[in-house]
Amino acid sequence: MDYYNSGACNETTLALNKSAFLKLRIKPRMLRDVSRLDTTTRVLGKSVPLPIGVSPTAMQRLACPEGEIANIKAVTSTGSIYILSTLSTTSIEDVAAAAPNTTKWFQLYIYKDRDITRNLVKRAEKAGFQAVVLTVDAAVFGKRYADCKNKFSLPPHLELANLRGIAPSNFTGSDGSGLQSYVNSLFDSTLTWEDVKWLQGITKLPVILKGILTAEDALIAADLGIPAIIVSNHGGRQLDTCPASIEALPEIAKAVGNRCELYLDGGIRYGTDIFKALALGAKMVFVGRPAVWGLSCAGEDGVKKVLKILTEEFEQAMALSGCTSISDIRKDMIVHEDEYAKL
Ligand SMILES: Cc1cc2nc3c(=O)[nH]c(=O)nc-3n(C[C@H](O)[C@H](O)[C@H](O)COP(=O)(O)O)c2cc1C
Repeated sequence: MDYYNSGACNETTLALNKSAFLKLRIKPRMLRDVSRLDTTTRVLGKSVPLPIGVSPTAMQRLACPEGEIANIKAVTSTGSIYILSTLSTTSIEDVAAAAPNTTKWFQLYIYKDRDITRNLVKRAEKAGFQAVVLTVDAAVFGKRYADCKNKFSLPPHLELANLRGIAPSNFTGSDGSGLQSYVNSLFDSTLTWEDVKWLQGITKLPVILKGILTAEDALIAADLGIPAIIVSNHGGRQLDTCPASIEALPEIAKAVGNRCELYLDGGIRYGTDIFKALALGAKMVFVGRPAVWGLSCAGEDGVKKVLKILTEEFEQAMALSGCTSISDIRKDMIVHEDEYAKL
């Protein structure tokens, strides 16, 4: 479990992601007839019944034998969105076959060898994935001390299924974290905004950027015609002491307005966290670790249970704050605790 739960270096950011939500207060409105609630949101022009999707997490068959397939099937039951990691232990094609009608996005890491990258994108297109999510916060790999200490390796019965036959599809951690060595030797650390343009040029799918934390970068993305951004700090696993995703969201929302859709991941643990992210400008949130915890406890049923708990808590937060639809959830309903300290 160390691999799932760890953050970068001193783990400050991992803790911040959660505590930043707790510093925000929801101002409730009363007497609004909340007997009927509608949690539908709109994402990339499509109606999505629930604003809670699943973030890409690598190697889900470490958590349970069915791995990615169990995870996406649980998402299918909610009608929401699943993002498949480049570093999955089930292939793009097998995931697509198991959930043909689910909204699926493919998360991309750009390999130094652009033929490998192009191959992944083309396969995702062919398999019916509806967007490419380019992770931009992993130019080099965050130092995760737990993985270094454990010499994190992929067990021999598993492989990075998308890379079979085209790139190394396994790694061992003989000298520190094997994953860190894999990423640092094969992923391209020279990436710039020119590579985003290159990616836009090789695919007809929308390119979403995951890992933006500043208004400055969000504006560059908007200027490039990027339709959506996932405001994310990689679950606190990359730059230690960078802002919590929820802290970064307001400046980004203010800067881009309606030019890009915004989603958020990082530290979503309660329904009220989802409410706060939506109030501050996100159209949708994603969860990484909570889904993997569900997988490791009870496979597909475990993820279903996690999503059910989050949905019920979110609906309760809507009802108790007087909101019957997503558009009722407004920014002025959220106050930072410091405001109350001034009274
Ligand atoms: C075990 C683990 C593996 C991850 N693998 C990937 C990955 O392959 N690609 C990626 O873009 N992000 C990856 N992430 C980051 C997640 O997509 C997401 O940003 C993060 O988990 C959200 O925070 P949360 O776990 O608090 O929900 C990973 C995170 C974890 C915990």
